[in-house]
Amino acid sequence: MDHMNPKDIIICRCSDVTLFDLFELFEQGYRSFEELKRIKRVGMGPCQANTCGKMVQWEIAKYFKIPLEEALFHNLRPFTLGIKLKHIKEGSDT
Ligand code: FES
Repeated sequence: MDHMNPKDIIICRCSDVTLFDLFELFEQGYRSFEELKRIKRVGMGPCQANTCGKMVQWEIAKYFKIPLEEALFHNLRPFTLGIKLKHIKEGSDT
């Protein structure tokens, strides 16, 4: 069976990142989810890595031959919305 071309395997569809893109970054020395996120915006799309997160973690572990639990997941931050100053002044959050 032929292997699929890594350029055709989408890892993060929100940010249009392929497996080939990850391999290139790994070869450049990037090896953590946080680094990949900052360089290529992996996991920063609308789904916030709910779709790609585990796949990225798995690919890091596989590429560097480390246990999955050592391929750290990216830092999760709470969802935030902007608030108008007038609402703060008035004591309202709507
Ligand atoms: S698929 Fe990667 S952030 Fe949504």
